[in-house]
Amino acid sequence: MSLIDPLGRRFRSLRVSLTAACNYACDYCVPAGSVLKPSPNALDGADLMRLVGLLDRVLDLKKIRLTGGEPLIAPNLSAVLAGLRAHQSEISLTTNGQFLGRHVEALKAAGCKRINVSLDSMDPVVFKTMAKAGDLESVLSGIEAALAVGMKVKLNTVPMRTQNRDQVVPLFDWCSQRGIELRFIELMRMGHLQDVAAFDREFVPQAELVELLAVFGEAEQLPREANSTSQTWVNARGRFGFISNESAPFCGDCDRLRLTSDGMLYGCISSSNALDIRPALTLDEPEAIALIVDRLGRALKDKQPVRFSGEQTIMQILGG
Ligand code: GTP
Ligand code: 5AD
Repeated sequence: MSLIDPLGRRFRSLRVSLTAACNYACDYCVPAGSVLKPSPNALDGADLMRLVGLLDRVLDLKKIRLTGGEPLIAPNLSAVLAGLRAHQSEISLTTNGQFLGRHVEALKAAGCKRINVSLDSMDPVVFKTMAKAGDLESVLSGIEAALAVGMKVKLNTVPMRTQNRDQVVPLFDWCSQRGIELRFIELMRMGHLQDVAAFDREFVPQAELVELLAVFGEAEQLPREANSTSQTWVNARGRFGFISNESAPFCGDCDRLRLTSDGMLYGCISSSNALDIRPALTLDEPEAIALIVDRLGRALKDKQPVRFSGEQTIMQILGG
């Protein structure tokens, strides 16, 4: 079976969710009063890494990114990090940064070189209002610790008009002093934000963000890199970017595959078609590989042709 689709897309990049749980409850992510919980069928680190190993055998993955929920609260974290040492792929992590400081050495030892931190504010009060938990100081010191061991750090910020629009300039100021690329993630109309009034009130368009950052001088848009989620801009102080899943989707050259903490494979961020690869854990190697190849073929068929549909829930973003 060919694992290349008619648009020439193949899977070279795997996002692995270590847990569906998160210690934050950000407004853009979950409705007020709710939290993300772990999957009742979450795999332990050894089993999750066996599935990753099988996927890598078939796909020769270029990149493996650990995600969540929040991966640094996952009970399987140390076993996953131990398993990653055997992989040749580039290892990266997406985290809210709350517990980054205490894990930096272990991440480095596992080969993790790039860390993306979700951070929406440089003001402790705004931070707490949005995240509902955690503290800004720990996130900032975790980022400094990652930089100190030579990791490349990017920041992901979701701008919301009534909450953190005034944080755009301080965030860029802090990032640009440290060589960190700040990326603005376009607010997505999903889950509870499908409520049109709430979405329209909070959405901040890209042009407005560019205008806010003009206090640092004129910025120029760079050509988009292949397979990248973001469009990058540069000004005299540094780089910033936009991840615009709805207004500028990158589906056309998307090379991503996602594996959830309970062993479900998704070929697309907007697919709700979970492909169960856990049975591979009970099979001998040749049968396990055959099952993986079959599921990958189906995952590839499931990829969006052009753009993201907007109908998925947040769990599908965070779970992959
Ligand atoms: P880099 O390797 O640094 O480019 O990271 P990344 O952007 O691939 O990963 P990150 O976890 O930082 O993702 C940032 C945001 O990109 C997510 O919150 C999503 O909004 C978006 N994103 C990530 N993967 C996908 C994907 O497969 N499809 C779409 N449409 N958006 C994605
Ligand atoms: N819109 C855009 N990004 C979202 N995320 C969660 N919910 C949304 C949303 N409604 C993503 C962002 C954030 C991470 C925790 O989850 O990338 O940084």
